[in-house]
Amino acid sequence: MMTNASLLILPGDGIGPEVMTEVRKVIDWYGPKRGLTFDVSEDLVGGAAYDTHGTPLHDDTMAKAQEVDAVLLGAVGGPKYDVLDFSVKPERGLLRLRKEMDLFANLRPAQCFDALADFSSLKKDVVAGLDIMIVRELTSGIYFGEPRGIIEEGNERVGINTQRYTESEIDRVARSAFDLARKRGNKVCSMEKANVMESGILWREVVQRVHDEDYPDVELSHMYADAGAMQLCRWPKQFDVIVTDNLFGDLLSDAAAMLTGSLGMLPSASLGAPMSNGRPKALYEPVHGSAPDIAGQGKANPIACILSFAMALRYSFDQGEEATRLEAAVETVLADGARTADLMGPDGGTPMSTAKMGDAIVAALDASL
Ligand code: IPM
Ligand code: MG
Repeated sequence: MMTNASLLILPGDGIGPEVMTEVRKVIDWYGPKRGLTFDVSEDLVGGAAYDTHGTPLHDDTMAKAQEVDAVLLGAVGGPKYDVLDFSVKPERGLLRLRKEMDLFANLRPAQCFDALADFSSLKKDVVAGLDIMIVRELTSGIYFGEPRGIIEEGNERVGINTQRYTESEIDRVARSAFDLARKRGNKVCSMEKANVMESGILWREVVQRVHDEDYPDVELSHMYADAGAMQLCRWPKQFDVIVTDNLFGDLLSDAAAMLTGSLGMLPSASLGAPMSNGRPKALYEPVHGSAPDIAGQGKANPIACILSFAMALRYSFDQGEEATRLEAAVETVLADGARTADLMGPDGGTPMSTAKMGDAIVAALDASL
């Protein structure tokens, strides 16, 4: 039995609300069928929040996010908001959640489902069976470093951002990566640019120290992030856990996502320190964006968001078996040939709608009982 499992749902913009509707079907299944009931509330984030409140994240929503056991977010952003001042752009809402909840460890698994190995732009034997985990530092680095801004200098303007990492910021995300590796393939590859950046030199030094002091049993290697990008495309199965900074992690996780065939498949978990009830501060979201080009048409793939809920079951609610059940249900529908538009191969066929994919996954959950 679970107690006080509270969930704040922030559907956001674009395809966010559509994919979240399918997640709700899954959440609603777990109550009667598995006795897992959630105290669910819903609120606005991103452009949707701006339209209503003039800010991409209302203070009340921020406060609610701090109180619940887990936040589940759809996506933020859209061309309609391109004209807004930087400080109120939809993305600022998401970044505020990450920063104020101090969600420093962003887990982005890239797993290739057998049924989709043909959909990757890489050869099948390069990606079949792929199962890697990118741990991206999420609350520091160039995303948040000061000074930042666009300033006047002489007769022109200068854009400034600062890459900044403290030892403790590197230390804690390294520990997350080593802890995860112990539950998987026991291998960590740390990526930075120690050849050109002082922050990279410190990153490498701290990761190595944490390893030598507390995780000598885990196999550790270091790679420059550019070489890492190349190796990810060449032979991704050499990796188990990759730990890297905020910006490199943003880039490398999009690349890793595409190895698996579609960005519509990949979930993520952003975790912080444990709360007083022992559960980590947590936000779960698909890696994909708001996809404004297909929003509102029932074309979106809800799997990344549904798998994000599976990660919530595992990392927030200690329901690893139920998470595995949900992941297996996704695998079953894919093996049965269920395909949303993003998963249509070159030989065509008729894609199924967002809602039909959600229904198929719920049916597979039923069949798992
Ligand atoms: C991501 C996204 C975000 C990021 C944007 C939407 C702010 O690309 O989660 O990967 O850059 O972190
Ligand atoms: Mg990104």
